[in-house]
Amino acid sequence: MKRLSLILLLISAVACADNKSNETLPIPKPFPEPEPVPEPAANAATVSQAEPLAEPEPNPEPAPEPEPERKPSSNDARPESHSSEHSAARTMKIQFDAPSEDYGDTVDSSKNKPDDIDNDVIQKLVESYLNPEENKPKQRVNKEVEKLINSSPFWNLNEAKAANSIKDEDMAQEWMNGYTNEAQKILYQVAVAGWNYFTNVQPNNKDALDEAEDALALFVKSSSKQAKQFDISKMNNPFLKREFEILTVDGMSALDAEKYGEFNEVNAKINRDFINTEICEFKGQNPCIIKFTDLAAILNNEKDLRKSAALWKFWRETIGPKLSSQYEKLMKLTNEAAQLNGFGNGRDMWLSPFELSSRSSPPKVNIMKSAEKIYEQILPFYQQIHAYMRRQLTAVFKDKSALSKDGAIPAHMLKSVSADNWSGLYQETKPFEENEGHAEEILGSFHRLNYTSKTMFIQAYRYFKYLGFGKLPTSFWKNSVFTRSWSKDMLCNPPAAYDMRDGNDFRVKACSQLGETDFKLAHKLMAQVFYQYQYKKQPLPFRESANPSVQTAIANAFGILSTNYDYLKSADLLADDTVKGEAVRINNLYREALIDFVKLPFDVVADKWRFEVFEGKINSSNWNSEWWKLKTQYQGVKAPFARKNDDFDPIASSAIAQSHSPALRHVVSYVMQFQILKALCGNSHSLDLGCIPDKEVIANVKRVMMQGASINWLEALEQITGDKELDAKPMLDYYAPLISWLSNTNEHDEMYLGWDGPETSFSENDVPAQRTSDEGTEHFIVPSEDQVAYPGGDCSKGQECLLDSTCNGKTCECNPGLFTFKVASSVNCLPGDPGMFGFEHGGSGLSIGLVPNENVSTSAPPAEEHPKAQQNHSKHMHHAKSAPSSTIAALLLPVLAVGFFH
Ligand SMILES: *[C@@H]1O[C@H](CO)[C@@H](O)[C@H](O)[C@H]1NC(C)=O
Ligand SMILES: *[C@@H]1O[C@H](CO)[C@@H](O)[C@H](O)[C@H]1NC(C)=O
Ligand SMILES: *[C@@H]1O[C@H](CO)[C@@H](O)[C@H](O)[C@H]1NC(C)=O
Ligand SMILES: *[C@@H]1O[C@H](CO)[C@@H](O)[C@H](O)[C@H]1NC(C)=O
Ligand SMILES: *[C@@H]1O[C@H](CO)[C@@H](O)[C@H](O)[C@H]1NC(C)=O
Ligand SMILES: *[C@@H]1O[C@H](CO)[C@@H](O)[C@H](O)[C@H]1NC(C)=O
Ligand SMILES: *[C@@H]1O[C@H](CO)[C@@H](O)[C@H](O)[C@H]1NC(C)=O
Ligand SMILES: *[C@@H]1O[C@H](CO)[C@@H](O)[C@H](O)[C@H]1NC(C)=O
Repeated sequence: MKRLSLILLLISAVACADNKSNETLPIPKPFPEPEPVPEPAANAATVSQAEPLAEPEPNPEPAPEPEPERKPSSNDARPESHSSEHSAARTMKIQFDAPSEDYGDTVDSSKNKPDDIDNDVIQKLVESYLNPEENKPKQRVNKEVEKLINSSPFWNLNEAKAANSIKDEDMAQEWMNGYTNEAQKILYQVAVAGWNYFTNVQPNNKDALDEAEDALALFVKSSSKQAKQFDISKMNNPFLKREFEILTVDGMSALDAEKYGEFNEVNAKINRDFINTEICEFKGQNPCIIKFTDLAAILNNEKDLRKSAALWKFWRETIGPKLSSQYEKLMKLTNEAAQLNGFGNGRDMWLSPFELSSRSSPPKVNIMKSAEKIYEQILPFYQQIHAYMRRQLTAVFKDKSALSKDGAIPAHMLKSVSADNWSGLYQETKPFEENEGHAEEILGSFHRLNYTSKTMFIQAYRYFKYLGFGKLPTSFWKNSVFTRSWSKDMLCNPPAAYDMRDGNDFRVKACSQLGETDFKLAHKLMAQVFYQYQYKKQPLPFRESANPSVQTAIANAFGILSTNYDYLKSADLLADDTVKGEAVRINNLYREALIDFVKLPFDVVADKWRFEVFEGKINSSNWNSEWWKLKTQYQGVKAPFARKNDDFDPIASSAIAQSHSPALRHVVSYVMQFQILKALCGNSHSLDLGCIPDKEVIANVKRVMMQGASINWLEALEQITGDKELDAKPMLDYYAPLISWLSNTNEHDEMYLGWDGPETSFSENDVPAQRTSDEGTEHFIVPSEDQVAYPGGDCSKGQECLLDSTCNGKTCECNPGLFTFKVASSVNCLPGDPGMFGFEHGGSGLSIGLVPNENVSTSAPPAEEHPKAQQNHSKHMHHAKSAPSSTIAALLLPVLAVGFFH
């Protein structure tokens, strides 16, 4: 029954998409988006910090030797005011080692012939989607985990004596040694199960991961109860004391079993509803098929303000009432858990990692005060970009009446669901029309040098070695996944570095594609791998970064370094005479600001609002109006429609619904990344250009990495930068060229800064000239996206074909051995023959068509038939999804087959 209705939905949706092919209707997904990986509970994160203490040293891998010191060469030292700004002659070249290590195969595995795809497994997945309750796993699949459960006294909840009853430090040390031994085993199993699932999405692997995580939760619960037997206040050894402090944080699992279960259920329900709720594009549409994941892409391409407004409203009015009482429950349970952890309320618990407070010690830092200070520092810049955007919007939407010259911006105009990511407006509002830098040249160099995805990581690795980081075990190159492989379904997002927690096995998982963007990603991930690799000798509870924000900040700082032109020239990726012009610099900064910088005020709002809920200052009777009060005050945006008391708009934001954790993390890591960059690049007066850093500063970074979680995030910050607190000044230095351009421009245009004016109307003269390239231009966010195309798409300008397709000179056609499957105008490459499932050759307006591989170039619609908007849209859809469309279409096949034959 359910199957049939699904098919009907599909077909009508497809027909619908076909009817209005110039609109941005998504193809509905027959399979739910993978839910975001839930935040590990505070204590799970704690335990996952744990690693082997008594490390048996025999290394199966060649122990990484210290790097042989490179001979200093004449051009080794960094010139004082090094900058690639205007003079190519001043390029500083660095020498990388000969690529002598065994990196294994660098053949691009995505070009390999596909393995057979197991239709039974897919069928099972589809069935469990259609009939969730009937498909509960009946027996344990993870035998290794099953063996561990209750295998030692550390698993025993009843083993613990009264809290603080043991004062003997030797006993505490002995307990800690035993604990680390046991924790190591279960953590390893969780890491293995996680890797297996994320790189090979199969129901079995999901069950195995769930079981491992459940077991870990069990272990954490009993071991942290046992840890509380020991009186921390009596401990003399500061390291031991900190270890116990880390272990005795319970987070949400402090709740009793029933309430903890309820918390997880409520959290999951909010997440599920957020992902699955469907809304209409217009009143009376039937069926409604737009979901949250489609919304961003649709808003991004919508030029009709009335449609954006309608979607904005439908989304909020559908999701809000549904989740209001659930959210109240979630906050209440979080407060209860906080109190059981010894905190006043959820706010104090959430902030404790930043305020360095614990059940036994009060905050050492007032992080919200820091956040306010940061906001004050960035406000002048934010007002500049806000004023500039406000004026530009009158041209983007050809409608100046929706805006006032000196007021807040209506939230639906910013091309994102929550007005927290303005990058959808980049193309239409960028400061300079000129090209976007040298992405094309870099991509060309990758091709010339026969790069594959893996080669980008090898280059990143050689850069880190040059900087003084040691070697990684060769197993890293063997076990990592650098690009999507055909044989397994992967969860590509987020790309991540994995410490497999046996002290020797480190990996990355990324579905990278050749290009500037993922070259940067490779450097970020390498920084994370080296972080994990450096702290591997720490005792178990310290085998974690000083704070996740520190790790992100360091990784992002290295990401910026990887864009430095001297480095790119040294790696032979740019010609020696390439210069990064002023326009390119300002455009790049502008794009980055629209994604990350404008999010900072939003983060402040998201946390302030939740803290007021935690503190009981607001409740469901007035929390919506408070939300808009804060949004207007900090972000300068307002609701486009009057809001009612029973509306619940906060939950329409992913930051609230999908991530029940402080948004402050982004603020801290983003601000800190520039403090670190500044430390690495010394007095370089053009921070946005990056630099090749001094090795002495790198040594500080390495030292911080080596100490893992034995130091806190402020100590890490101080050891790298000398700063004792967060400071937005380096960030403002980084953005300086953009800030000065914006303020000149706004001054010239006589724009009002701020949003507290009397709502003066824009005059005709205020509206900026229409962009020449406006209509019909591409709306890609990342320049390298200009260089990619999807199956059936146009690759005549040398675009790289994605998703298992190859360019035939004109269009991206499916790789040999694959079948081309057309749904409306979207083309998918499938391993199985859709003909086996009763499909016929498409034609005469039929939306679902089948074209054998050889015929693809004739049957793929020529590019002109793709209205631009739709093309862009489908690119975004592909891009945004963690599972590419080929997977989704593969899942779709058996469903349809079942429907037709039964
Ligand atoms: C498609 O368009 C035709 C005529 O333009 C209309 O009769 C039909 O109802 C439309 N189908 C859908 C699903 O909107
Ligand atoms: C679709 O395209 C046609 C012809 O190009 C145009 O007249 C119509 O307004 C478009 N519809 C929308 C909703 O953009
Ligand atoms: C993927 O996982 C399944 C189920 O655990 C396993 O049987 C299969 O061998 C794995 N595939 C690969 C290529 O590792
Ligand atoms: C202090 O505690 C750490 C961590 O448990 C341990 O490695 C170290 O040996 C202890 N130091 C002394 C002097 O006991
Ligand atoms: C911001 O929006 C753009 C375009 O919609 C999207 O590609 C990008 O991933 C978003 N960035 C973040 C950090 O959400
Ligand atoms: C790239 O590969 C081609 C063909 O295999 C080869 O001729 C060429 O020398 C390679 N280039 C480099 C820089 O390795
Ligand atoms: C909400 O807060 C107001 C005061 O701020 C209080 O009067 C009211 O009873 C509260 N409502 C609920 C449902 O707790
Ligand atoms: C390709 O298309 C032609 C004509 O459209 C058809 O005759 C031929 O059978 C097709 N090739 C295959 C392998 O189906």
